[in-house]
Amino acid sequence: MSRLPLLVVLTLLLIGGTVQTAYAGVSNSLMDLSQDGRLLACSNRDSGSLSIVDLESGKLLREIRVGRHPEGIAFLGDTHQIAVAVYADDVVAIIDADSGKVLKRIAVEDEPYGIAATPDGQQVYVTLEFPGKLIRIDPQSGAVDQSWTIGHFPRGIALGTDGHIYVTEYLSGALLQFDSQTGQVLNRDPGNAEIQPRWAGTQEDSLARQVALHPRSNKAYIPHQRSRVTVAHGAGSIFPYISVVNTQPEFDESKKRRRRVQMDSFRGTYVVANPWEVALSPDGNWLYAVFSGTDDMFVCKVLDDDYRELEYAGGLRLGSNPRAVRVSADGSRFYVYNALDFTVVGYDSATLKPVMSIEVTQWPHSEDILLGKKLFYTANPPMTQQRWISCSSCHPDGDADGRTWQNPEGLRNTQPMLGLKHTHPIHWSADRDEVQDFEITIRSPLMQGRGLIRGPVHDGLADPNAGRSRELDALAEYTNSHGFTQSPFAKQGLNESAQRGKALFFSSRTRCAECHSGTYFTDLKMHDVGTGGADPSEKFGPEFDTPTLLSVYRSAPYLHHGQAATLVDVLTTQNSDDRHGVTSHLSPAQVADLVEFLKALPLEDLP
Ligand code: HEC
Ligand code: HEC
Repeated sequence: MSRLPLLVVLTLLLIGGTVQTAYAGVSNSLMDLSQDGRLLACSNRDSGSLSIVDLESGKLLREIRVGRHPEGIAFLGDTHQIAVAVYADDVVAIIDADSGKVLKRIAVEDEPYGIAATPDGQQVYVTLEFPGKLIRIDPQSGAVDQSWTIGHFPRGIALGTDGHIYVTEYLSGALLQFDSQTGQVLNRDPGNAEIQPRWAGTQEDSLARQVALHPRSNKAYIPHQRSRVTVAHGAGSIFPYISVVNTQPEFDESKKRRRRVQMDSFRGTYVVANPWEVALSPDGNWLYAVFSGTDDMFVCKVLDDDYRELEYAGGLRLGSNPRAVRVSADGSRFYVYNALDFTVVGYDSATLKPVMSIEVTQWPHSEDILLGKKLFYTANPPMTQQRWISCSSCHPDGDADGRTWQNPEGLRNTQPMLGLKHTHPIHWSADRDEVQDFEITIRSPLMQGRGLIRGPVHDGLADPNAGRSRELDALAEYTNSHGFTQSPFAKQGLNESAQRGKALFFSSRTRCAECHSGTYFTDLKMHDVGTGGADPSEKFGPEFDTPTLLSVYRSAPYLHHGQAATLVDVLTTQNSDDRHGVTSHLSPAQVADLVEFLKALPLEDLP
């Protein structure tokens, strides 16, 4: 027997001994490290796969197909098993990293996003985004043994050592705290029967997809942005933040429990955009934050002083669209996942120098769509000069941001981009006929970019802007690439109420289908449905482009001005004079039936 293997074994044993930690899987991320420190796993949203990296050799061990749009992942305890949230398939898959086998595919209600596993790997907690739920899974039996309705669009999740679960609401940025056994909300506003978290940020806080906890003190760190909808100007609409929440129960409420640390003034005047994830070192002294819009990292010293909280300690330029960061158990290395050049890069924490870089997957679509996606996500020139904002700041992953912006032409609710290819013309006022016309947005005061074509940009309805720049055509191709997935309300077929609603929808009395016609439920035409008078700042009304009704179950608020909070409002309070279809003769039960039908759209996946 040669001595080398023995040495290797001894070293491994030593490493195995020192890296025993409770961190693996405790806060949600798109990347995780196994407890023994040997494997790194990351989920690849575009490829629909999970990649496993051997950290000692720095090699890709395998890539495992898991389904459409995997998001959060977590190693289970000290095993090499991984739980992965397969967002678009509504499945939590359990994977064996060593064999590459998919051990289980556990069906969940809808949109699993964040995953965190208890340190012993016996329980897996998952946030279900659209249904607004937190579920608990037993990974051994595959049973979903708890399901709690907890809030609005939950995404981020972290398990505290105090037996509490922390969850972020994606669109509001609020932090919720739950009892891990009963699912009871612990930080409910006293005197408010609704789920009304006390640790909400301001109304402007948005896109909080992750939360990380300090290993020793009662602090939660939430990377998010702030969307100031009253300012359609690049220098004042989108801001990057890390919010720090003191979760101590006995906190002195006269002090500020939740503080926002502004990331755009953190390093002098150096602007960063779209904070995506953060990770703390195991000793709690350092925080690493990735900014997916500007491809930056900030290394921050954690002050934990209930005042400044974080101090700038170093900066790094990363690869394209960094979306995840994790720190090794001994703190000596950290790893970054660059989602749009498909690499995982390891850095030495002391020198901040890269020590390994590895390609973890291949882009599965055309080169042009990749180029378009990079442009859509970046806040770097030529899309903007000032680096504050990207298309994805308001249209994250093609979804809406749930907000209504005060644009120069009036109030405008952000639309999802699902099925955009089939629903031209574009914008509520149909003032654009091709996505290439967003060259106007790129050059506008909102984005202040140099733009992608040479020479003057054509008006939205005049000569085409298509064919004038490869980049702009690519941006259009990506923007047009989003399909619809089946509504969760259609999974079991239409219930009786929805069937009655369907008959009402297609009846000549209500007239809904006259305008909301065809596969996409739109005639692609402009109509005055009596909604134009509500907004005094409106410049283009009173006619608006008939919107698609597919996926309205998850796109509140409604109408161009966002003044209808619910679908019932669209059909009742916002349609008092029967100019938007005829609804005044409907009983409340019939309105409910109609809404039940709308919620079930699309009835099936539409690529
Ligand atoms: C500050 C937030 C914000 C930014 C940044 C932004 N948008 Fe929008 N987007 C909106 C809002 C609000 C609307 C609805 C406006 C309207 O219809 O008049 C919209 C509408 C759209 C639509 C129309 C969807 C439909 O169904 O008609 C497309 C396409 C679009 N944006 C693409 C882009 C692209 C491409 C970029 C980057 C160049 C971008 N947006 C940047 C907020 C934003
Ligand atoms: C005359 C054409 C027309 C008819 C008839 C019509 N709609 Fe609409 N619908 C529109 C237009 C135009 C808008 C956009 C209005 C706005 O944003 O101010 C709209 C908006 C909506 C929205 C909001 C969608 C969103 O994403 O915000 C819903 C829901 C809706 N209609 C459902 C219905 C139902 C149900 C009926 C039948 C009772 C109906 N519509 C009848 C043209 C029509």
